[in-house]
Amino acid sequence: MYNFIQKFHSGWAYLALLLLVIAVANSLIGLFSKKEFTAKDRKIAIFALIGTHTQLLVGLILYFVSQRGFKLFEMGVGEVMKNADYRLTAVEHPLINIIAITLITIGWSKHKKLATSESKFKTFSIFYTLGLLLILSRIPWSMWF
Ligand code: HEM
Repeated sequence: MYNFIQKFHSGWAYLALLLLVIAVANSLIGLFSKKEFTAKDRKIAIFALIGTHTQLLVGLILYFVSQRGFKLFEMGVGEVMKNADYRLTAVEHPLINIIAITLITIGWSKHKKLATSESKFKTFSIFYTLGLLLILSRIPWSMWF
């Protein structure tokens, strides 16, 4: 169980990040070149939303089956917070990613209520870029590569 979930979370991260980078680039290009927001732009944004939501679900399961997630708290909150590696996988990575994916979801919901192409591209540019930066800031890079 653990091995499969861990491998899935590790592999899906490439796809989730790629889809998010494409969505961020697309929204910035659309905003600055004053393009019209089309069905294609909507699809790019929803793929990034689905990619990150899948990663979130798998991450939540991983958190409870991994030795580097919730189980670390068995040694006490203080011990986890004192150690940068433990703090990263048990606290910072999950928490910051949940905030990031919440922002991405807010961006998706907001765009539906907006009327102009510019406002839609702007909303995606802000919320998806913030989400991407937050995710990148708390990836356990040394474990991944
Ligand atoms: C888009 C969001 C996320 C991305 C891109 C991401 C990416 C990653 C990557 C690349 C690793 C290292 C994998 C490896 O060792 O090969 C990792 C580890 C981990 N992630 Fe995530 N993650 C995300 C969200 C989450 C969330 C929301 C949670 C929990 C609620 C979570 C829990 C964990 C845990 C516990 C580990 C350590 C697992 C272990 O090695 O036993 N992740 N994540």
